Amino acid sequence: MVKRLKVAVLISGRGSNLQALLDACADPAFPAEIVRVISNIGDAYGLERARKAGVETLVIDHKAYPSREAFDAELDKAIREAGAELVCLAGFMRLLSQGFSEAWNGKMINIHPSLLPSFKGLHTHRKALEAGAKLHGCTVHFVTPELDDGPIIVQAAVPVLSDDDEDSLSHRVLEQEHKAYPLALKLVAEGRVSLEGRVAKIALHADPGTRLLNPAG
Ligand code: GAR
Repeated sequence: MVKRLKVAVLISGRGSNLQALLDACADPAFPAEIVRVISNIGDAYGLERARKAGVETLVIDHKAYPSREAFDAELDKAIREAGAELVCLAGFMRLLSQGFSEAWNGKMINIHPSLLPSFKGLHTHRKALEAGAKLHGCTVHFVTPELDDGPIIVQAAVPVLSDDDEDSLSHRVLEQEHKAYPLALKLVAEGRVSLEGRVAKIALHADPGTRLLNPAG
């Protein structure tokens, strides 16, 4: 039996990345297990996905708290109560306080729909199209107090096609998100990711050995 890293997943919406993590964790040989899913939105569809997978859920409505710090303190309590050792943000659309980010430094990861450090914040697909980027993608990274700025663990790139709109591009990126997030969680859970300053070093990883060129040339 592998020792499985206990993970809490924080969501705000449809939870397709949560689903990718649930599916990965359904394999008993996967080195992580999800012990609790927490949403700040009561009717987030991701809660349904967690229930279907038999994972405990909890709603903490941010509107019920007088400050970001008070909300984050409740989150922190709920994560620790569940025995989680790592926090995965999966479409969790709340800024976190400096204190919370620091408390979980090196133990909290996020997925962002761009190749960071390009296109931080919201509307990343629109920004990539407007910038005329030829490659776009997603990033799984450690969370630091700076928005979308922490050490990068995994990135997946896709070409931006000449007839893309926000919908088609976000769909292509999302498919890669669902591969990148389980991979990043696996690497972290296996203890293969170490932090050297602002760089995450990955032990024993296979180099892709190919390049992505767009246009193909
Ligand atoms: C995903 O595309 C994720 O990368 C993004 O929200 C979406 C959530 O979808 N996250 C952010 O923009 C965070 N800055 P999901 O609920 O289906 O996983």
